[in-house]
Amino acid sequence: MNVTNKAITLAFTGASGAPYGMRLLECLLAADYTVHLLISSAARVVLATEHDIKLPSGPDAAHKQLVARLNCESDKLVVCGKEDWFSPVASGSAAPKQMIICPCSAGSVAAIAHGMSDNLIERAADVVLKERGQLLLVVRETPFSTLHLENMHKLSTMGVTIMPAAPGFYHQPKSIDDLVDFIVARVLDHMGIEQTLVPRWGYDQR
Ligand SMILES: Cc1cc2nc3c(=O)[nH]c(=O)nc-3n(C[C@H](O)[C@H](O)[C@H](O)COP(=O)(O)O)c2cc1C
Repeated sequence: MNVTNKAITLAFTGASGAPYGMRLLECLLAADYTVHLLISSAARVVLATEHDIKLPSGPDAAHKQLVARLNCESDKLVVCGKEDWFSPVASGSAAPKQMIICPCSAGSVAAIAHGMSDNLIERAADVVLKERGQLLLVVRETPFSTLHLENMHKLSTMGVTIMPAAPGFYHQPKSIDDLVDFIVARVLDHMGIEQTLVPRWGYDQR
């Protein structure tokens, strides 16, 4: 596969907030991005708990299921195994310059803040950091411990965007989908990806 400008790495980890991740995936594909998708084992449990999605652990079977569900072009979605060290996202020579982890667990924040690179998600984030790319973490935990805050602070000083999964209410949400879209819109804005999900502050409503 060629490295194109319109490629992005998206990881789901085991924090609550699977609907944010799935909606983001949908929007990135709709924006014609090639998405390298990484899913932790805990994220699969969360997806099954929160989003009626039982993903198989094998990347090929997960890919097949997601392509059918999202009705997307097969080659626009690349599902990577958690120890697929030959994936493009594992190397600075091939990895997309942008990566989003949504939702992002406190455990993954800690691992990334300490450069663990113990699975493909941690390695892909480490690659984006060393290549001075753009890394955005939609972190979800409450309350935050001092350790969580220290880890997020450390990453923030390295240029990582820490975006808590904390939707606003000023767009007068009528549904859970509206709350999900609030966060997804902010993520897309930060990554420089055009979106019209939520009206902008100070402009006309949809
Ligand atoms: C249903 C469910 C919800 C969870 N919610 C959170 C959460 O909101 N935040 C968090 O940091 N961990 C949460 N956890 C715990 C993480 O999944 C666990 O720490 C895991 O080891 C994280 O690994 P990962 O980052 O590799 O996915 C949750 C686990 C489950 C099963």
